[in-house]
Amino acid sequence: MVTPLLQVTNLRKRFGAFTAVDDISFAMKPGEILGLLGPNGAGKTTTIHMLLGLITPTSGTIRMFGLDLNEHRETILSQVNFSSTYISMPQSLTVEENLWVVARLYGLAEVARRVDLVLEQLEIADLRHKVMRHLSSGQLTRVTLAKALLTEPKILFLDEPTASLDPDIAQKIRVLLKEVRRSSGVSILYTSHNMREMEEMSDRIIFLQRGRIVAEGTAREIVARFGQADLEEVFLKLARESRHET
Ligand SMILES: Nc1ncnc2c1ncn2[C@@H]1O[C@H](COP(=O)(O)OP(=O)(O)O)[C@@H](O)[C@H]1O
Ligand SMILES: [Mg+2]
Repeated sequence: MVTPLLQVTNLRKRFGAFTAVDDISFAMKPGEILGLLGPNGAGKTTTIHMLLGLITPTSGTIRMFGLDLNEHRETILSQVNFSSTYISMPQSLTVEENLWVVARLYGLAEVARRVDLVLEQLEIADLRHKVMRHLSSGQLTRVTLAKALLTEPKILFLDEPTASLDPDIAQKIRVLLKEVRRSSGVSILYTSHNMREMEEMSDRIIFLQRGRIVAEGTAREIVARFGQADLEEVFLKLARESRHET
């Protein structure tokens, strides 16, 4: 059996009396695009923050590349990277300067070549000398993705990568991410509450609701299991059920 790239077992996070992530287990294969879908407050960001070692799980284990995150933090984190609509980079630096800062922090070799490569990959070579604060939200998203890809991660974690974008730019980012996956073999775990995005991007979807996994599989499998017309109908059905319970 192939060792999963990422293996999460009985992961739980409590904030005081509140359980944000409630005993979830899943694995990710090399080269896979895995979508974490769920309504606001489902626990998506909390899960990603635990995978990045930013917050400590209440219980459960996280393994990447066959290693436990608790014991091999540095080895693991040097091989992953992260991007989100909500991260901020120094505003007064240019795009290129920002990428150099990241490269130095990670101790990358061949920085000039790597910077050129990600600028090309994300089709932002023309923004090289632009100051961050002058970028549009679509351009910013590309720059933060460039930042994440610069270190040649084996796993890319993306928290709502297209949340602040108009539909046209969001579509371009999705195409781009799939292209990056194809050319570099990177595995991507991303979150979204956009059903179309989930259907289009994900090889597999994990449906989170109130910290629990309520469905898992391809979009088609999940839709069939719930006997609905599409993923959006499943989402609405689950959301309404959970509202009745509370
Ligand atoms: N630091 C924190 N302290 C208390 N509650 C938190 C904290 N972070 C997140 N939560 C709560 O945990 C739940 C899950 O949040 P989050 O993971 O951000 O959801 P999502 O990303 O799916 O919208 C929410 O109810 C949120 O209010
Ligand atoms: Mg979130």
